[in-house]
Amino acid sequence: MARTGIIKRWRSNMDVLDDTVYTDMLNTLSEGSVRRHFNPYIDIDWDAPEFAVTPNDERWILPGTDPLGRHPWYQAQAVERQIEIGMWRQANVAKVGLHFELVLIRGLMDYAFWTPNGSPEYRYCLHEAAEECNHTMMFQEMVNRIGVDVPGMPRLLRWSQPVVPLMAGPLPIPFWFGILAGEEPIDHTQKNVLREGKQLHPIMERVMAIHVAEEARHISFAHEYLRKRVPHLSRGKRFLLSMFVPVMMRVLCSAIMVPPREFWKEFDIPRSVRKEVFFNSPESRQMLRDMFGDVRMLCHDTGLINPLAKIVWRICKIDGKPSRYRSEPQRQHVSAVA
Ligand SMILES: [Fe+2]
Ligand SMILES: [Fe+2]
Repeated sequence: MARTGIIKRWRSNMDVLDDTVYTDMLNTLSEGSVRRHFNPYIDIDWDAPEFAVTPNDERWILPGTDPLGRHPWYQAQAVERQIEIGMWRQANVAKVGLHFELVLIRGLMDYAFWTPNGSPEYRYCLHEAAEECNHTMMFQEMVNRIGVDVPGMPRLLRWSQPVVPLMAGPLPIPFWFGILAGEEPIDHTQKNVLREGKQLHPIMERVMAIHVAEEARHISFAHEYLRKRVPHLSRGKRFLLSMFVPVMMRVLCSAIMVPPREFWKEFDIPRSVRKEVFFNSPESRQMLRDMFGDVRMLCHDTGLINPLAKIVWRICKIDGKPSRYRSEPQRQHVSAVA
């Protein structure tokens, strides 16, 4: 009997038609996907001469918003070396991004499989998956053009990722928090680079602009999905979730931001530099905190902040004020870079 109770609850959680505010929001997002979308092979002219990847192109030097890019060790390297490191790092971030997206696409399919007929969530999940498919092609094309054989995610995550999408059906709430843990840092970093205004390689600039434009919808959906469900969880489940969310944010954010072991070996970068950059220096700590302002706001508004959770957020070094609204610019960080 208990089992049918669980299944009934799980199924009724997927019934969203009685919530008109939520279904209207989903329809708006889906219509947005139809109106404004990109195709990596139409909207990027890969073979245009200005998109060519040529040796010694200083536009690959890491920007000041990159924690390694602003480190004195990096800035003291010869220009060719800075370019080489910059190309490797930017290619690897693209590769990690596409690794995350491949996990997300599989999870979206798993979730959509169980949605009832007529659910607007089905349509939106499929729009999002189609966009992510385009992103993965765009990122892989960029990696191929840069021409460095980067590994992407750290090895442990590469081997453990097959189980993650399996969560999306039975445990969609932790799954969606995991997706936010991947999307928020990438989106935050890309927006900061674009705001900084440094001259970037056109491939990098175009890919990031397309990604930021589409990612806004994906992040909106994850937030609204969670806002609808989390407040109705039992106290016990909410408590467990409140412990789990900050840990997940920190672990996945590090997987994206910190280059894998291969990188440090390849360029023979001193351990002390690595420690300082990720994340011992005051600037990199601030950057880490800034990335999660929106997630802190979400947790605040859905009852996932309690005295113990606050301690976990602090231990994970991602505590701080919640944003007042989504994508609120983190002025402190932007001005520190300027
Ligand atoms: Fe994406
Ligand atoms: Fe996305």
